[in-house]
Amino acid sequence: MSQITFPRGREIVLGVGAGIAAYKSCDVLRRLQDHGFLVTVVPTPSSLNFVGKATWEALSGRKVNTDVWEDIPTVPHVSLGVKADLVLIAPATADLISRIAAGRADDLLTNTVLTTTAPILLIPAMHPQMWLNPATVANVETLKSRGIFVMEPAIGRLTGSDSGIGRFPESNEIIEKVLEVSQSRCDLLGKRVLITAGGTREAIDPVRYIGNRSTGKQGYALAFAAVKRGAIVDLIAANSAFPDIEGITTTHVESADEMNLLVQEKFPNSDALLMCAAVADAKPVLYSTDKIKKAKLSEIALQTNPDILSTAAKHRSASQVLLGFAAETNSDLVNYGKSKLNAKGVDFLYVNNVDNGAIFGSDLTSGYLLSNEGDVSQISEVSKDTLSNILLDKVSERLRYANV
Ligand code: CTP
Repeated sequence: MSQITFPRGREIVLGVGAGIAAYKSCDVLRRLQDHGFLVTVVPTPSSLNFVGKATWEALSGRKVNTDVWEDIPTVPHVSLGVKADLVLIAPATADLISRIAAGRADDLLTNTVLTTTAPILLIPAMHPQMWLNPATVANVETLKSRGIFVMEPAIGRLTGSDSGIGRFPESNEIIEKVLEVSQSRCDLLGKRVLITAGGTREAIDPVRYIGNRSTGKQGYALAFAAVKRGAIVDLIAANSAFPDIEGITTTHVESADEMNLLVQEKFPNSDALLMCAAVADAKPVLYSTDKIKKAKLSEIALQTNPDILSTAAKHRSASQVLLGFAAETNSDLVNYGKSKLNAKGVDFLYVNNVDNGAIFGSDLTSGYLLSNEGDVSQISEVSKDTLSNILLDKVSERLRYANV
C-alpha cells in the first residue's frame, strides 16, 4: 500500500513519556488525526508500562519503535526528526524533561529531539512536588531558552488523592496549542516556490567546461525547508550530486542556457523565485566537438551568459517575491550587495563571503541579508538549514504583505 511519506506541514511525531497520562495521549492522537495530521508515535521504553506498543500501532496505523536499534536501515533516529513538522511530547515527565535539557540521546525519542529542526512542544504532567522542584524549574527554563515550547500543566485532580498543578491538560487544549505552534511553520502552504541550486557548467569541448565550486547544498536545504513549510517546490538543479527529495519536482540541468529556459518558463506561475544557483557568467562562443589541443586553449572566445535573475525580475508582478544570492570575496560585502540587489531588481539578496573558497560544500554559512527596503541583517555562522528558514521567514512575510 502506498503511504504519504513526505510532509506537507502535517507530519507529527508524538513522543510519549512514562507517566500515567500516557493513556490520555491516546485521545490526543485521535484528535490529531481528526485534524488531518499524520502521526508517528515514539514512546519511551518505560512508558510502555502504561500504554503498550500494540495500542499505539493500532491507533496510529504506523509501526512503533522505542529505541535506535530497531529498523536500522531506515536510520530512524535521524529520519523521524527530519521528516517531522512538529514533535509533540505528551506527557513529558520530569525525567524526560531533564534528559532533553541535558542533550541525552538514550532512546529513540531523545535522539529524535536532537535531530529535528521542527518545532518541539512539550506537555508536562507530573505531581506538583516534581513540577515545582528547582531542578525541573531550571530544566524547563533551559528548554524554553532553546526555543522549545512548554505548555503550562493544568491545575486539578492528580493520580492519587492529591491535587494541584501538574495535571495533563484536556485534549482540545493540547490540539489548540499544536495548531498554534505548527501553523507558525505552515506559512507557505500552497505557495509555488521556484528554487535553483548548484553551479552551471558551460561546455568547451567534450572534456572541458567552465564551472564553479557550488555543490547545491544551500539550494537543496532551501528546497527542503520550503516543502516542509507547505510550499509546492520546483527545484532546478545544476550539476548537484544530492539525491532528489521526495515531494519536490526536480529538474536537472547543466548549463546556464538550460537553466534560463526553465526559469523563464516556470517563473510566471511561481509566487517566489529563490535563485541560489551559481550561474557561470560566461560560455564559449563555440562548442568544439573535438577536444581542443592545449596550444589553442588561449584562443577560446567567450561570451556572457544571460542574467537569469534580472530577466525574471524584469517580468515580475508586484505579488511575486525574488531572492538572489551573491558570493563575494571583497571586504565591503554590504555595499557590493546593495548595488547588486538594486541592479538585479530583487526583493532580497543574501551576500556571503567566499574568500578562500569558504562556504562551498560547507554546512555553515555567514553573511548579510539585504532587503530592497534598506534592511541589513548580519547572519553569523549558522547552518544552511537555519539560513534557509531565516530566508523563508522573510519571503513568507513579503508574500503575505504583497497578497493582501
Ligand atoms: N545570476 C543569474 N544569472 C547570471 C548570473 C547570476 O541569475 N548569469 C544570479 C545568481 O543566481 C545569484 C545572483 O544572480 O542569485 C548574483 O550572482 P553573482 O554571481 O554574485 O552576480 P553576477 O551578476 O554574476 O555579478 P558578478 O559580476 O559579481 O559575478
